[in-house]
Amino acid sequence: MCGIIGILGEKDVAPLLVEGLKRLEYRGYDSAGIATLSNGHIQRCRAKGKLANLEDKLGAQPLSGTTGIGHTRWATHGAPTEDNAHPHATEKVAVVHNGIIENYAQLKDELEKLQCRFETDTDTEVIAHLVTHYMTQGMKPQEAANAALDRLEGAFSLALIFAGEHDLLIGARQGTPLAVGYGEGEMYLASDSYALAPLTRKICFLEDGDRVKVTRDGAQIYTNDNTPVERDIRITAQSGAATGKGAYKHFMLKEIHEQPAVIGDTLNSFINPATGTIHMPDDALAALEKAPRLTMIACGTAFYACMVAKYWFEQIARLPVEIDVASEFRYREAPLPEGGVALFVSQSGETLDTLEALRYCKREGQTIMSVVNTIESTIERESDIVLHTLAGPEIGVASTKAFTTQLTTLACLALALSVRTGKVDEQQAAEMAEALRHVPAQTAAVLGDHESPVQDIARELFEAKDMLYFGRGLLYPVAMEGALKLKEISYIHAEGYAAGEMKHGPIALIDEHVPVVVIAPGNDPLFEKAASNVQETVARGGEVLLISDEVGTAQLKDHIKWHITLGDVHPFVMPILYTLPVQLLAYYIAVTKGTDVDQPRNLAKSVTVE
Ligand code: G6P
Repeated sequence: MCGIIGILGEKDVAPLLVEGLKRLEYRGYDSAGIATLSNGHIQRCRAKGKLANLEDKLGAQPLSGTTGIGHTRWATHGAPTEDNAHPHATEKVAVVHNGIIENYAQLKDELEKLQCRFETDTDTEVIAHLVTHYMTQGMKPQEAANAALDRLEGAFSLALIFAGEHDLLIGARQGTPLAVGYGEGEMYLASDSYALAPLTRKICFLEDGDRVKVTRDGAQIYTNDNTPVERDIRITAQSGAATGKGAYKHFMLKEIHEQPAVIGDTLNSFINPATGTIHMPDDALAALEKAPRLTMIACGTAFYACMVAKYWFEQIARLPVEIDVASEFRYREAPLPEGGVALFVSQSGETLDTLEALRYCKREGQTIMSVVNTIESTIERESDIVLHTLAGPEIGVASTKAFTTQLTTLACLALALSVRTGKVDEQQAAEMAEALRHVPAQTAAVLGDHESPVQDIARELFEAKDMLYFGRGLLYPVAMEGALKLKEISYIHAEGYAAGEMKHGPIALIDEHVPVVVIAPGNDPLFEKAASNVQETVARGGEVLLISDEVGTAQLKDHIKWHITLGDVHPFVMPILYTLPVQLLAYYIAVTKGTDVDQPRNLAKSVTVE
C-alpha cells in the first residue's frame, strides 16, 4: 500500500509534504518520513507510527529545502520501525516507494557483492543502492534511474530526488498509481489527485510503464522503452478542503451518521424527480439486458455488497450472477461468457486485486462496469460504464457509508433492469422504488433510536473473545459484514455465517462465552428458519442478541438475552437498514475496549499491493 508524494516547490516544502501525507494516510500509517534537499544535500526525517509522530519530530528539527519527497507506510518487507521508514537514501539519491519489488533479494545479493551496505530490511532500499551504483559508474540521474527501473520486477510507483539536483524529480508507475500535478511555478507527484487537491487542480494520471522527469517547468513522460509520450492533463473534481471529524469523536461515527444524507444523495442521482421511478444509465441497462451472465468482483466490505446484489439480480431481475473475491478470481482463469458484463465494486477504486481482475475481464472481452466512490480512480478510468456512489470521502478504515451507498446503487440497478426486462410488474416496481425512497428517513430513524441502547449492549459484550453472526438470504452478507466490522476495529474474533450452515460447524463453538448475533426480521420470508437457529443456540447455552423487528422480537423475546428492534422494513431494502445496528455494535464495542477505531492495527483503507 503506502502513499507517496514529491514536490518541486517555490518555498520550503516540508509543511506541504506533511499536509499531502495527511491526505494519503488512508494508505497506511505504520511510519512516515520525508526527505528534502538542503544546500544540495539529502536530509531526512522519519518516525515510526502515525504521521503525528513525524510532525512532532519535524516541530523539534525542521527540514528546509524546496525539493522533497514524502511517504506514509503500510509495512510489507521489514517491521514498522524508524529504520525501515521511507524515504530510503544514499548520499546521492532518496526514494519513496509504494508497492513491492519482487526481485529485491536477488538485487540485494548482487549489490552486496559490490560492497553496498544495507541498513534496512525493506525491498525499497535496493532501489536507492541500484541508482547510486549506476551513478557511480558515470550515469546522469535520469539515466541511472532508468537503468535501475529496467531491473525492477513487481508492482510499484516511485518518486526520487537527487543530491545537487534542485530542479529534478523522477517518478515511475508500474502497477500502482501515480499522478503528476501542475502548479504555478511548482510541480508535484503523488499517489492520487486527492493528496494534491489543495495544491493544484491540474492533474495527469500516469499509465502503467510510464516514467516521468519533472522539473519546475513541467513534466516529460516516457514509456519504459524511453519513447516520449503525451498523457491527458485534466482538471480534477477532487475537493481540496480538509475532511474533519466535526463534533464526532471518530471519523467512523461521523460516517455512520452521514448515511441518511449520502444514501439520499446517491438515491437522488438515480431517481427521476417527476415520476419517482428509478433511472439508471441506458448503456448500463443495455449491456446487462443482453448479458447471459453478470460477474461481480470486489474485496472486503465491497465484496459483501456484491453478495447482497447477487440475491437482488437473481431474484428480481432473473439475471444469473457469479461473485468472487478479486484475489481469487484474478488467478483462476475463469471462462467468461461472450457478451458478459463484469461489475467491480470499490470504495477507493484503487484496490490492486480488483483492478487486476478488471483487466483480466477486459482481456476476455467483457463489458466493464464499476460502482466506485472515489472519483478519478484507476478503476473508474479503466471501466466502460461507471456508477458513482455519492458517499463522499470515507476516512475511517472500516467501511460504513461506502457500503450502504454501494447497496443503494446496486439495488437501483437491479430494480431498473427488472423493469426494463419486464421481470417485475409495474406495481411491484413502484412498491420497491417506494421502499428505496424511504431508506434515507428510515436510516435516520434507526440511528436515532438505537445508538444509545446499542452502547448499553456493547458494555456487556466488549470482553467477549469470540462472537458469531448469523443471517439468511439477503441478511447472510450482513452477518458477514457485521463480523468483519467487529474484528477489524475491536480485534474480537468474529465469524459471519449463513444461519443454515450453523449445524455444519459453528454450533460446536456455542457456549455461554460466545455471544451470538442473529439478524432475522419477523417479516422476512425466512424468519421461521432463523427462529429455529435461535432456539438451537439457546438450547446449547448460547446467549443471543437478536436484531429484528417487532414481530420477530415478540416471537423470540423469551429466548434471547438482548435485542435491537427496528420498525417495519420492506424486505427489498432490509440489507441496507439492518447493516446500521451491526455498524453501531462494532463501533461501540471497540470504543468500550478503547481500540484505535479509525486506524486499527495492521489495516489500511486502500489495499494497493497483493
Ligand atoms: C480494505 C478496506 C475495506 C474495503 C476493502 C476493499 O480492506 O479496509 O474497508 O472494503 O479494502 O476496498 P475498496 O476500496 O476496493 O472498496
